[in-house]
Amino acid sequence: MNNLITIEELSKEEIENITDLAESFKKGRYANHQTKHAALIFFENSTRTRFSFECALNRLGAHPYIFDNSKSSTSKGEEIFDTLNNLCAIGIDTFIIRAREENLFSELMKNEYYKPVHFINAGMGKTAHPTQALLDYFTMREKMGDVKNKKIVIIGDIKHSRVAKSNTALLKKMGANVVTCAPSYFREEIEGVVFEENLDKALSGADVVMCLRIQNERLEETISREDFIKNYRINSKNFPKNAILMHPGPVNRDIEIESELLNSKIGETILNQAQNGVYVRMAVLDKIFNGGLV
Ligand code: CP
Repeated sequence: MNNLITIEELSKEEIENITDLAESFKKGRYANHQTKHAALIFFENSTRTRFSFECALNRLGAHPYIFDNSKSSTSKGEEIFDTLNNLCAIGIDTFIIRAREENLFSELMKNEYYKPVHFINAGMGKTAHPTQALLDYFTMREKMGDVKNKKIVIIGDIKHSRVAKSNTALLKKMGANVVTCAPSYFREEIEGVVFEENLDKALSGADVVMCLRIQNERLEETISREDFIKNYRINSKNFPKNAILMHPGPVNRDIEIESELLNSKIGETILNQAQNGVYVRMAVLDKIFNGGLV
């Protein structure tokens, strides 16, 4: 089996190898995987990740197939295991899945029938989004050379964010100083990560400021958006000089980042992230198709 489910399963060396390969794809490297057939199965909405994987598969000469949940037989009550078995029988060899359930991949990978199919996690509940963390790392490495000892501040809805979980896992491995900053209702302890509730203190000396969207679809608690905007919104005045502004998208304008800053030169890194996502996903797919992520 050759899959990508979490950042935790990758070594520091493997992360650097994927990033090096992404860099060479960005410079024009060619690969051909025309015998590969991948299903893009998204049970939660997506723009960047879905298009990015589809674009990466096309650029590699592989064949992407979009699974439309609302028009598929899962909406008629078919179990996901049976759906995957049938897709495998049809000739799909790679499943790229976004799911709300946190144990879906471990359940799916217990099935004997569709081995040796590849599984790639395209975002799982509030716990893991490995290709997002890899593309964020690629973007940071491109801008700063190295993240070792750099102060990376992740701001906002830490509690419900899979991006925060995968990014902190990756950045800790690469030797960055990771700080999370959030109001108490979005706080979640992450081992090896400093928490700072005060935005000004968190931003002081930051090399990277990564803002997160409030995950409205996962909120169980009542929160005050006005309070969040007043105390945690990033704007032209509080943004640290010479820092890099990042956001995984989708951005909710004027909630986590003020439009004026987003529309400025500083906001362009967010589109660099989207662009780099294609090369990182090409690298992940190329390594998986060639037999290993190492
Ligand atoms: N960053 C990210 O996962 O965006 P999408 O939800 O649009 O895929």
